[in-house]
Amino acid sequence: MTGPEVRRLFLALWPEAAVRAALLEVQRGLPADIGRAVKADNLHITLAFLGSTPAQRQSCIEAALDDVVAQCFSLQLDRLGFWRKPQVLWVGSERSPPLQTLVDGVGRAVAQCGCRLDSRPFQIHLTLFRKVRKPPRELPVVAPIQWPVESFALVESVTAASGVCYKVLKTWALGTAVAGRA
Ligand code: 2AM
Repeated sequence: MTGPEVRRLFLALWPEAAVRAALLEVQRGLPADIGRAVKADNLHITLAFLGSTPAQRQSCIEAALDDVVAQCFSLQLDRLGFWRKPQVLWVGSERSPPLQTLVDGVGRAVAQCGCRLDSRPFQIHLTLFRKVRKPPRELPVVAPIQWPVESFALVESVTAASGVCYKVLKTWALGTAVAGRA
């Protein structure tokens, strides 16, 4: 589907500057010729890929996401991985219950607007390189990156002459747990 009222959208965790810098350090520690490095400004974790989205559905999605209840959490990215079929090399984490809660929450919200998401289980990964035909024989151990996750974002994927770029359209702050009174 194309046209001015249709945008290619996804929901993401968008790193702040310090996390982005740490991610770049990991990316730069890998051989530059293993594939196409994701541009620094494009680094993110996809929570849900929405694809071509008409404006009316976008409004529905934005309203539904206002009702997502999830708390701030710390995400540790501590391993590299490679997927042969999509040819991506990523940095990720084995599990994070609070991230899974957030993914489940946004999934339920967008389903109310008719979005059909990938049915495969969510796997925590942030793509560092695309078009990786042959990964390094052994993936190096990475220094863990601590990512304080305080929000999630609705992002548009825009294809320009210079390549794809991502535009954050809106962000939602996560909640902070309120300590009970003594
Ligand atoms: P990734 O998270 O593995 O990098 C925007 O295109 C983002 O949505 C990319 O980061 C991409 O993968 C993710 N994505 C998930 N499913 C996709 C699909 N079917 N087509 C394009 N991108 C998809």
